[in-house]
Amino acid sequence: MKKYADWTSRKTLLCPSILSADLSDLSNSIAALNDNYDMLHCDVMDGSYVPLITFGSQMVKQVSEKIDKPLDVHLMVKNPEKQIRNFVDAGACSLVFHREMSFHPQRVLSEIRSLGCFAGISLSPATPLEDVKYLLADMDMLLLMTVNPGFGGQVYLSQMTEKIRSARAMIDASGYPVRLQVDGGISRNNLGEVMRAGADMVVSGSAIFLADDPGMEAGAFQSDMRDLDRELNRV
Ligand code: DX5
Ligand code: ZN
Repeated sequence: MKKYADWTSRKTLLCPSILSADLSDLSNSIAALNDNYDMLHCDVMDGSYVPLITFGSQMVKQVSEKIDKPLDVHLMVKNPEKQIRNFVDAGACSLVFHREMSFHPQRVLSEIRSLGCFAGISLSPATPLEDVKYLLADMDMLLLMTVNPGFGGQVYLSQMTEKIRSARAMIDASGYPVRLQVDGGISRNNLGEVMRAGADMVVSGSAIFLADDPGMEAGAFQSDMRDLDRELNRV
């Protein structure tokens, strides 16, 4: 059964990326988070759009069956339209594909929504916001990559802060309730920077899973997020 995230509140959502978890012992890695997160971010890589191959819908399905939290699936694959049905059936709550890999993104967004999932588009750092400007009505989330897609543990590209700010302004001006997710190089050190710029969904992989105590780190992230949500009048 699909699990739903608290989409309509303005509360910032924490999405730990299992890319940096111990994939040979995933159940325990996820359990170590002590439920201190909102959605589990699953990075699906095909070895073609990006160099690595990670995992497919079968593994996502098994994870979904084991945990109570919703899954946020980030497709870094060519021909994403061929994968939609598989990942919806696997239990994804939200499904995001790359604008750069899609010829007809409006059609793909509509299909994802018609299957009962939140639909999102991801933009790599060099891709302009203009590429999704006329798609906002069809989107539930916009994912801004704050590193080049492909690997965990990279350094946040500081020039993305301005892009986050512009994306927030574009979304607010549109009037559509599109969540703004950031992904890549995010730790508690730059959490304030991305949230103040307008992000309201935060992915973090290595900063959480490679911490001495991932559960404590995720809890500290959430506590910082609540403070920032209050500062930004979101809760
Ligand atoms: C990178 C992935 C990210 C990655 C983030 O292509 O999309 O989700 O796991 O990892 P960190 O937080 O280590 O940059
Ligand atoms: Zn990701």
